[in-house]
Amino acid sequence: MPRFARHPLTAPPGASAILRDGAAAAGEAATMKTMALRIPSGLAASCHKTPLRAAWLERLPDVLRDLEHRWSLTLDAPFDDDEVSCSYVAAVVRADGTPAVLKIGVPHMEGEHEIHGLRFWDGDPTVRLLMADEDLGAMLLERCEPGTVLRTLPEREQDVVISSLLRRLWRAPSAQHPFRLLSILAEYWSEETLAHIEQWPDTGLVREGLRLFKELPRTEPTEFVLATDVHAGNILRAKRQPWLVIDPKPFVGDPAYDATQHLFNCSTRLRSDPEGMIRSFADLLGVDHERVRLWTFARAAAEPRDDWSNGDLVALARAIAP
Ligand SMILES: Nc1ncnc2c1ncn2[C@@H]1O[C@H](COP(=O)(O)OP(=O)(O)O)[C@@H](O)[C@H]1O
Ligand SMILES: [Mg+2]
Repeated sequence: MPRFARHPLTAPPGASAILRDGAAAAGEAATMKTMALRIPSGLAASCHKTPLRAAWLERLPDVLRDLEHRWSLTLDAPFDDDEVSCSYVAAVVRADGTPAVLKIGVPHMEGEHEIHGLRFWDGDPTVRLLMADEDLGAMLLERCEPGTVLRTLPEREQDVVISSLLRRLWRAPSAQHPFRLLSILAEYWSEETLAHIEQWPDTGLVREGLRLFKELPRTEPTEFVLATDVHAGNILRAKRQPWLVIDPKPFVGDPAYDATQHLFNCSTRLRSDPEGMIRSFADLLGVDHERVRLWTFARAAAEPRDDWSNGDLVALARAIAP
């Protein structure tokens, strides 16, 4: 999956991995004793990239056993589709028979405040958070049923659903909010991009993107809590409301930024008519299309990526350069 699906840990899918349950191997009594834990291939590929993530994966069987016991859950198989790459997510059933979903996130910068975000939105229009363990990054979530991803709808219909969800997500933060500013995310990306200067395909273009990563947060017209990863793969069909948002990565800043993830995920349409798509989506959102264009440019030009030789983003950046 390309970096622009905005999974910070993405990597080409590797072979599916099986992680042995240590306790089971030792023959100890454990609820999961017969289980060899299956790890979705996208997650396995992500976790083999750094020692920190490899250590997280190593601990996962123990963490699951602990949560299964503490939260009285019956675990089912993990979700294993193209959307899964930086978390272990599995369907579960609670002691009272309620269906739910257990999510344990691989620690990463962008996702640090997912639990706080779900508390902040409190089910509207996100899934509800039923239990959480902040130290483990573990969440028990309301299960969306049937849980069909919005990606299955034509893109023009996605535009309408996503814009109305984003408008509902954007709220003023409270005085004591825990969230980081969007400028921190932009700085974090800038540092990563600067570390790969020798791979840049067009120095002037990348420098201009980096300049905007600094300037855009300084000139924000309004500051709201943003979910920053709202795209058609993170919106699921549900019964309580027609669509619910999962996987929020909250930051406080310019709502125009929050338009960009959906734009990037409609890559063919965005490349063929960038100005038209930006303008029509910005209009649906009621935000300044010029700022959406600048944020989109900055990301296309200067957001860190696994493969700097990919010409699509460079072409897009050139097409909408200020
Ligand atoms: N609350 C939920 N209800 C039903 N399915 C869910 C729920 N949360 C996650 N999933 C399933 O797990 C997949 C990955 O979840 P997500 O939170 O987006 O993980 P990641 O952080 O890896 O992107 C979703 O695409 C969906 O199939
Ligand atoms: Mg997701």
